[in-house]
Amino acid sequence: MYLPSFRLDGKTAIVTGAGRGIGRALAIGLAEAGADVALISRTEKDLEETAGIIEDHGRKAMVVPADVTKRGHIQHAVEHIARECGSIDILINNAGMNIRSKALDVTDDEWQAILDTNLKSAFMMSQEAGKEMKKDGRGGRIINIASVAGHVALRTGVVYAATKAAMIQMTKVLAMEWGQYGINVNSIGPWYFKTPLTEKLLEDEDYVRDILAVTPLNRIGELPELVGPAVFLSSDAGSYITGQTLFVDGGMTIQGF
Ligand SMILES: NC(=O)c1ccc[n+]([C@@H]2O[C@H](COP(=O)([O-])OP(=O)(O)OC[C@H]3O[C@@H](n4cnc5c(N)ncnc54)[C@H](OP(=O)(O)O)[C@@H]3O)[C@@H](O)[C@H]2O)c1
Repeated sequence: MYLPSFRLDGKTAIVTGAGRGIGRALAIGLAEAGADVALISRTEKDLEETAGIIEDHGRKAMVVPADVTKRGHIQHAVEHIARECGSIDILINNAGMNIRSKALDVTDDEWQAILDTNLKSAFMMSQEAGKEMKKDGRGGRIINIASVAGHVALRTGVVYAATKAAMIQMTKVLAMEWGQYGINVNSIGPWYFKTPLTEKLLEDEDYVRDILAVTPLNRIGELPELVGPAVFLSSDAGSYITGQTLFVDGGMTIQGF
């Protein structure tokens, strides 16, 4: 037999930012692949909705409200999940935000909020979940949701871009350091997907025309198109891949002039 399994039965996954958008889709997708999923965000009501969808599919979901910019919340959440589930096998660092100020208008508070939410949170979550994955040589998978904006230069969003570029580099260094523990660390770099974060922008027809002009597949992504790559990188099928960023971008990042 040469085909490794894409299933995640018996695994426990944590998804941050699982209350809406990409995180909700990833959480449901991992559950469909067989994992039990712990759902983190600040809004309990959103998490309950995601959990309801997962439980309707006959899978287990745990609602764990927490602010991932706060070390204490993260420690408490990870300890709770590890105690209830026995192990943490998969971590998806998806929680994120953006404020699209022009560079000259960015305030110190904006800088700090975006760095804490997009970058420091993913590092702290990786540290706390990494300790669990390292225990008894269990190993695990960490997937950071970066962005095309961390790889190519877009017209606005300098702080967001800086966090996502740093996330891609953090992925490589954690992969180097934790390969010896059987922990694979990868990133997924999405281009545009319709979520509460982007829906206003995607209502602007001129903006969408500009996006599609640089998207070889000539369309916005559909959320299930991010789920396939996340399940692949979480499963036995992705076992020899680490330190990589998989751009899920309709071809956006391949272009030269
Ligand atoms: N949508 C796109 O086209 C796109 C493209 C490239 C990359 N991405 C990345 O994909 C990820 C998800 O984006 P999305 O479009 O799904 O965004 P979204 O719809 O705004 O959802 C963001 C999620 O993160 C949670 N979150 C934010 N701050 C948090 C905090 N401090 N603690 C805990 N949870 C927090 C939010 O819940 P609460 O506010 O309730 O806490 C929410 O569940 C982000 O990292 C984003 O940068 C998105």
